[in-house]
Amino acid sequence: MPDSPSSLPVIVSGIQPSGTLHLGNYLGAIRQNIALANDEAARSEAFLFIVDYHALTTLRDPEALRRYTMDVALDYLALGLDPDKASLFVQSDIPQLTELTWIFLCLTPSSQLEKGVSYKDKVAQGLTANGGLLTYPILQAADILAYTAPGRGLKVPVGADQKQNLEISRDTAGRFNQAYRPEDAPLFPLPDPHILDEVSVIPGLDGRKMSKSYDNTIGIFDEGKALKKKVMSILSDSTPLEAPKDPDADHTFALIRHFATDDERAEIAAAYRAGGYGYGHAKKALLGMIDRHFGEARERRRALAERPEHVRDILQAGAEAARARASEVMAEVRDAVGFLNA
Ligand code: TRP
Repeated sequence: MPDSPSSLPVIVSGIQPSGTLHLGNYLGAIRQNIALANDEAARSEAFLFIVDYHALTTLRDPEALRRYTMDVALDYLALGLDPDKASLFVQSDIPQLTELTWIFLCLTPSSQLEKGVSYKDKVAQGLTANGGLLTYPILQAADILAYTAPGRGLKVPVGADQKQNLEISRDTAGRFNQAYRPEDAPLFPLPDPHILDEVSVIPGLDGRKMSKSYDNTIGIFDEGKALKKKVMSILSDSTPLEAPKDPDADHTFALIRHFATDDERAEIAAAYRAGGYGYGHAKKALLGMIDRHFGEARERRRALAERPEHVRDILQAGAEAARARASEVMAEVRDAVGFLNA
């Protein structure tokens, strides 16, 4: 029975509440994540959550955390995530996760945690080496495995930078099964990473990779004057207006590429090569395309932002579905490890 809903994998994905999302995030991950969640959830089941427990490893500003969490919910809903199909919720509404994390930690060699690349990276960047940062991948394993459904796999859409964390999730599932379950009745499936296609690097305003840490981003929901100012400031070389230009060497064109129709893309590339078409023209064209692409999402976001209680209801409903699943899984886990009351 290849395609019955009861055999399809459950899709599970965590989203960082790390401030204003930008076009690099959108083109690199969010767009694919939403399409996948909507599509798979229609046939199977999807859990998408904003990882505020994880954010605490590096953020110690309660107001900012609340705002970022709400912003990500608004962004995803405005960009088209369908909450009637996929459960969207906030990680900290599922307290079972911290319990499962503890149980997993007791099975995890500390040497594996110390070798974590993202842990070492963050410490190298100057973040405090706190216990949360060290054990981050095990909370992530709990995040994924808590939504296990009997007889089904777990599919996890993530960027390529999450490969090691997913490896650790697989190891963790295996360790639990091995420690506590007979070989023919594993409790947890080994989660399956679904690495999102790497879109070519999205350049920021200064031509380097678009990134919050370079302060060179265009926000997904920037608009009007602020958006125009940013687009007009995209770095370009000093080839004069009349001269032919190479579209593939230009940062504005690198963005146009993602928002243009096939015809527009071909037409603009030809205009670059022909000469008489300046970078200012290209930037105006890009601006129009961004407005077109996000016009409806901006309207939806404005409408949602005026009804925060409605957004909270959506998150609550998502959390209820998630808790229901997680508590079934925890009953089995508690029984398996030997707690008196499962
Ligand atoms: N670590 C992931 C990231 O940085 C976020 C994350 C947390 C996650 N829990 C998850 C991703 C579970 C997928 C599944 O992007």
